[in-house]
Amino acid sequence: MQAQDARKLAVARAALAYVPAGEVIGVGTGSTANFFIDLLKSERIDIAAAVASSQASAARLKAHGFDVLELNDVDALSVYVDGADEFDPRLCLIKGGGAALTREKIVAAASRRFVCIVDESKRVDVLGRFPLPIEVLTMARSYVARELVKLGGHPVYREGVITDNGHQILDVWGLRIDDPISLEARLNQIDGIVCNGLFAHRPADVVLMADATGVHTLLRPDAPA
Ligand code: 5RP
Repeated sequence: MQAQDARKLAVARAALAYVPAGEVIGVGTGSTANFFIDLLKSERIDIAAAVASSQASAARLKAHGFDVLELNDVDALSVYVDGADEFDPRLCLIKGGGAALTREKIVAAASRRFVCIVDESKRVDVLGRFPLPIEVLTMARSYVARELVKLGGHPVYREGVITDNGHQILDVWGLRIDDPISLEARLNQIDGIVCNGLFAHRPADVVLMADATGVHTLLRPDAPA
């Protein structure tokens, strides 16, 4: 196993400690989340069911024999476990590298605690090295791209990708995101944007980050206990 995969596996294993027995949990999307899903099965973790942030994760969970529920059919979730493309010192995130940002943001919002599992490559001082994914209505893509250029970004159409919600993705390069809360709110005001990949209004509560020395637990000071 490659070192990066070993680190993803290590943080996925560490996240098991945050899973309350017998409850419905939120489960994210991506290669790190896949390690977590596989561990739920191999470690015989007792969950009632899962709400998945993508069709891919739902299929993986079902293949392992877990029940997958719609978010509409559950109350608030106690925990959501997912990866990220970047995180900053305040545990604000960029997500959406796997095009699942909209459902990820909704499931995170519906969860009391968001446990983010990453390897050290995702750590930055200022968000924006990773291009910011933005889900757009297909008919609005060019209009939204022009608006993003006005904000100083360089949007690139992610060709060939249609999200689980039937929309397209723009990846915005060149943004130095010093104030992620403000930029997230600003982007939410552009007509045609379905969702942007900044998770600042609802950041992670816990980041489990693996490097060569092991797994480190980073807590957001005002996060729920
Ligand atoms: C998917 C995501 C993922 O969490 C993010 O892309 C990280 O993926 P990986 O664990 O494969 O590095 O936001 O939309």
